[in-house]
Amino acid sequence: MPNIKNSVKDASYSVDIGEMRIKYKDKSDTFTEDHLESKQPFGQFKAWFEIACNTPGILEPNAMFLATATKSGIPSVRPVLLKGYGSEGFKFYTNYDSRKAGELDENPNAALTFYWEALKRTVRIEGTAERTSSTDSDCYFNSRPYPSQIGSMASKQSSVIAGRETLMVKEKELLEQFPEGSVKRPPNWGGYIVIPKSVEFWQGQSDRLHDRIRFRRRKPGEKPDNILVHEGDDGWVYERLSP
Ligand SMILES: Cc1cc2nc3c(=O)[nH]c(=O)nc-3n(C[C@H](O)[C@H](O)[C@H](O)COP(=O)(O)O)c2cc1C
Repeated sequence: MPNIKNSVKDASYSVDIGEMRIKYKDKSDTFTEDHLESKQPFGQFKAWFEIACNTPGILEPNAMFLATATKSGIPSVRPVLLKGYGSEGFKFYTNYDSRKAGELDENPNAALTFYWEALKRTVRIEGTAERTSSTDSDCYFNSRPYPSQIGSMASKQSSVIAGRETLMVKEKELLEQFPEGSVKRPPNWGGYIVIPKSVEFWQGQSDRLHDRIRFRRRKPGEKPDNILVHEGDDGWVYERLSP
């Protein structure tokens, strides 16, 4: 077993990982309950997402990590792009034959995490994923640039291939077969919507006493005490978590 404590200080590393840390927010810039822009998670997400979209240095504010797991609970995680959100959930698009789709087919539980480093903020979403309608998938597929449309047809996402050449040959073939404007969405490509059961808003503090406010669906019969659990809107409650 490697000795982690020593290995981060090991001279063979060009950087000292143990000493790597940046400053988060100081105590004059906290995230408290009175800063909530909405008493339900979608409104609060909108407020933070729009700030992220307007923050220089955040190049892909819609990049998020999607975690899935097999039926037996073996997890996997990868980045995907958020392509829509609202009171119904958070949408992304992918290949329905991919590893993530296979895992969602056997286990719909999914989690998403956004990390906006420049803002020292994360949003964590947990819920279940469902495929979006074929109309929704068509609509988004048709809005994609032509090279992306061809690319999604050329790639059997997550399958093993002999080399890059395999993709180049397939792409060339498809470019000849389907001129711009004629590409139809392949049936194995489309959207998912993650319907949240909880959404946590986290903001980092330099002293590690971070702010965490979590919205979750109110349990049947639950009465918020307004001390630990607060009444939200639209069937949501919110509560503060210890960092
Ligand atoms: C910033 C970023 C955004 C991505 N967005 C998507 C996406 O929206 N859909 C997708 O299928 N793959 C996307 N990818 C590629 C995935 O991370 C991943 O490699 C691919 O979906 C295969 O994952 P899987 O084998 O676990 O199914 C993105 C990668 C990056 C780095």
